Amino acid sequence: MTTLRYAQCWEDADVLVDALAVRPGGTYVAIASAGDNALAMLAAGPARVIALDREPAQLAALALRVAAYRTLAHQELLALVGSRAHDDRLALYARCRAVLDEDARTYWDARQDAVRAGIGSAGRFERYLALFRTVVLPLIHSRGTVRELLDCDDAERARFYDERWDTLRWRLTFRAFFARPTMSALGRDPRFFAHADGPVSQRLLGRIARSLRDGDAGANPYVRWILTGGHGDVLPLALRPESFDAIRANLDRLDVRRCSLEEFVDTYAGDPVDGWNLSDVFEYMDDAAYASLLARIAANSAPRARLAYWNMLVPRRRPDALASFLAEREDVAAPLRARDRVPFYGDFVVEEAR
Ligand SMILES: C[S@@+](CC[C@H](N)C(=O)[O-])C[C@H]1O[C@@H](n2cnc3c(N)ncnc32)[C@H](O)[C@@H]1O
Repeated sequence: MTTLRYAQCWEDADVLVDALAVRPGGTYVAIASAGDNALAMLAAGPARVIALDREPAQLAALALRVAAYRTLAHQELLALVGSRAHDDRLALYARCRAVLDEDARTYWDARQDAVRAGIGSAGRFERYLALFRTVVLPLIHSRGTVRELLDCDDAERARFYDERWDTLRWRLTFRAFFARPTMSALGRDPRFFAHADGPVSQRLLGRIARSLRDGDAGANPYVRWILTGGHGDVLPLALRPESFDAIRANLDRLDVRRCSLEEFVDTYAGDPVDGWNLSDVFEYMDDAAYASLLARIAANSAPRARLAYWNMLVPRRRPDALASFLAEREDVAAPLRARDRVPFYGDFVVEEAR
């Protein structure tokens, strides 16, 4: 099976669900990735969420999460993911295994160490973040300093960041670790940078600085995981207690497909789609392929269907040639972009089918 690149969705689920205005009865499409954001969309009670990915390992990650919602209690789900400490995750896995399909069972049976560590750490990208947390970060800041940052209140955070956190060593080490060659070798497929211009690390440093200095890092589940390797009491949408029962009740409305988005839009014959969670897939293709795919997505959309997607390093916004099919919804995107808690992205885009 292919490499699991992402064991968690590093895209803010609250921003996504608000952007798509997910509503009961609607039909939605989500890039599956590790599955958490497709599951977060289910909590709102749509008729169907079609979760697709071209990588079988990503679908194995989604399948194990689905099995966990079916068979575990909420606190056990958190333990299996790794949000909480637990000393026998294999026992939790054994209960999920009973309802897993054969592909997912084969995948996870061969990765018992990953299960023991918490399945949310199992991706190549999460291992890269773990290397940062366990090897690089301790060279820069003590655990006490990390704790102080997470505990800062609004009045003291910017000063703490400027005076204690933002040292020359922080800036230089961060930039070396998150430079394009290091990330390509250890964390992110080099092909993902094919359409990105210019140095990467300075842009990422600016983004993480905004999250740590201007946002509440302690209340941010994504930053908490990067800095501590767990969520504490601050959870992404799909893992919150109030989402758990709703997701579990709606699991039969999840339709999982192994295919590319391109294959999907070219063969789909179901109800027009009311909303599209497109992750940042457009970064991985050139301008012409992006415009063509966007047009095919619009052709499969219900009137006023929303499209939501992120741009990390490559600017992507619907070309003028598609203005008669898709309207920009900057009025929706701008406040959500300001709320986005994942510190990697340069842009968040919402468009609407006419
Ligand atoms: C686009 S990646 C992005 C993850 C994260 N935002 C990042 O860039 O670090 C998320 C998922 O999209 C899937 N993916 C990428 N391009 C795709 C495509 N054209 N069709 C279907 N899935 C795709 C990948 O397999 C992966 O599981």
